Amino acid sequence: MALPDSFLQELLAKNDIESVVSGYVGMKRRGRNLVGLCPFHGEKTASFNLYPETSSFYCFGCGAGGDVITFIKRIENLDYMDAVRFLAERAGMRMPENRQENDQTSRLRLRILEANREAARLYHAALYRPEGQVALDYYHRRGYTDATIKHFGLGFAPAGWDYLLKGLRAKGFKDEELIAAFLAARGRNGGVYDVFRNRAMIPIIDIRGNVVGFGGRVLDDSKPKYINTESTLAFSKSRNLFALNFAKNAGRELNLCEGYMDVIAMHQAGFTNTVAALGTSFPEEQMQLIARYADKINLIFDADGAGQKATKRAIDNLRRTGLDVKVVTIPDGKDPDEFIKNNGAAAFKLLLERSANAVEYRLLEIGKTHSILTPDGKLAYFKEAAKVLAGLDSPVERDVYAGRLSEMLSISKDAILQEIDSTRRRQQRASRKQQLPNLVRQENKELRQVNPEAIARPRAAGAEESLLGTLILHPDYIKQVRATLSPEQMTTSFNRQLYTRLLDRERQGLLVELAFLAADYDEDGMAYISRMVRDARERAVSAEDVAGYAAIIREEHALRHMDNPAEASDEDIQSMLDALRARKTKK
Ligand code: GTP
Ligand code: MN
Repeated sequence: MALPDSFLQELLAKNDIESVVSGYVGMKRRGRNLVGLCPFHGEKTASFNLYPETSSFYCFGCGAGGDVITFIKRIENLDYMDAVRFLAERAGMRMPENRQENDQTSRLRLRILEANREAARLYHAALYRPEGQVALDYYHRRGYTDATIKHFGLGFAPAGWDYLLKGLRAKGFKDEELIAAFLAARGRNGGVYDVFRNRAMIPIIDIRGNVVGFGGRVLDDSKPKYINTESTLAFSKSRNLFALNFAKNAGRELNLCEGYMDVIAMHQAGFTNTVAALGTSFPEEQMQLIARYADKINLIFDADGAGQKATKRAIDNLRRTGLDVKVVTIPDGKDPDEFIKNNGAAAFKLLLERSANAVEYRLLEIGKTHSILTPDGKLAYFKEAAKVLAGLDSPVERDVYAGRLSEMLSISKDAILQEIDSTRRRQQRASRKQQLPNLVRQENKELRQVNPEAIARPRAAGAEESLLGTLILHPDYIKQVRATLSPEQMTTSFNRQLYTRLLDRERQGLLVELAFLAADYDEDGMAYISRMVRDARERAVSAEDVAGYAAIIREEHALRHMDNPAEASDEDIQSMLDALRARKTKK
């Protein structure tokens, strides 16, 4: 797993964080740093900071942070090795040989991707064998052309238990690899069999062109209608969208549908900016993925109960991403696939253009529960509507809707704007109040998970983290500190380990930089460490401060061993006495 330092150094030199991040996030210069909208959580004011000096990033909104490799890990959804590979490709560098001998997980992940690719080929080929005619007919009956079938790589999993197994075993895949890929399963009697049988097969392709999973639909009305790849090493539902590989190149406006078949029909009709959510409940993660590729989103869900519920959930999660959301309701309870088949692409285009935006949709919803024909109902409607409009950040928009509301309710526009204003102030106070504990809670969560021992000894751990952050920021202090502080004197194992790593690198004459730690820490660990660095940077630490941190750490260590002087070293006893003396003189 260990990559040669020389390779990493070249990799980092050729992938400076500013140019890498600017490929994903619009950054503006602010003093020595750059700021932009965080790609890892939805936000409207920029709290994502880039520090070229330390080649690091940190988001004050969500706590994400780290070096350029960690950034790629997160944004491209890759593990460490793949992120390095990604950056190597970007810089036109060759990976060192043998790089993944020990890295079983990333090997298995690659095998899963290879198996998926071969499986997609075999499923597609099956369409053109005699037993596949039934599936080909099915696609044609649904109105999909041969060009569409080819474009999406649609296929067929024949009935029987081992069409795919046979084909993939012949290509050298092991049963365990196919099980890990969710292509095969092991039965209770120990036998292995195909997961997808007698189904129309739809490959799911990620933004890098990897086949990461499949949707398999029955050809008749039997149940379950779909079997979909569950999460594997290469696939997570909430981090993918069906057809994003095509749609990401279709401009900054996306259509979001419920089903695979809807997306396929939409693309065939020319709406190539359409994706589907893979039958999930629109988690925030997925909505953020959308926000990375679009500024405007049209929600196109079935008009049935489930579809309406999904619409609400999606709107709520999308609102936080700052996207411009429109809701497209299809008449007669049809889905886009059926509507286009019955009415044609031009009719659907009209529907898209006329559709209500999210505000109108929510006002309509309120109208369903409060009748404005009674005075009580009218008042309730007015209050609820004001809440919705108060959430609009654009004063122009607020004004427009206030005007409409005024006509509809025959209440003066001024009164409506006043109500919106005071609701808005209330909401802002509440959200500020809400955000503070959120941030604290989030930092605590990290603490518990990454550096759990820090909670019990805040003074020692605080000094250690200030010191470690400073040493990463100014490695030239390491020599000075090394002489007065040994790793054993640190209170948490996380801090001890980090300190040891810094000392080791310094002793070997290697560069001390955040990026060289990315191989040893996961994303939470890196975020934690980059917070130490951020804090140290903000405090503009001096050599005196550094000595002060070291003194506190020694003192705390000594105090911890006071009740057991036999175990204390001479050094400990000395710093203990120093500490006690210092306390006395202070009094
Ligand atoms: P058609 O009936 O072929 O037009 O499919 P559809 O895409 O319109 O499907 P539907 O609206 O019923 O469902 C939307 C999406 O939910 C599908 O694309 C699947 O991702 C998912 N889904 C539907 N039925 C099932 C099921 O039985 N199991 C699972 N796991 N997912 C399903
Ligand atoms: Mn359908």
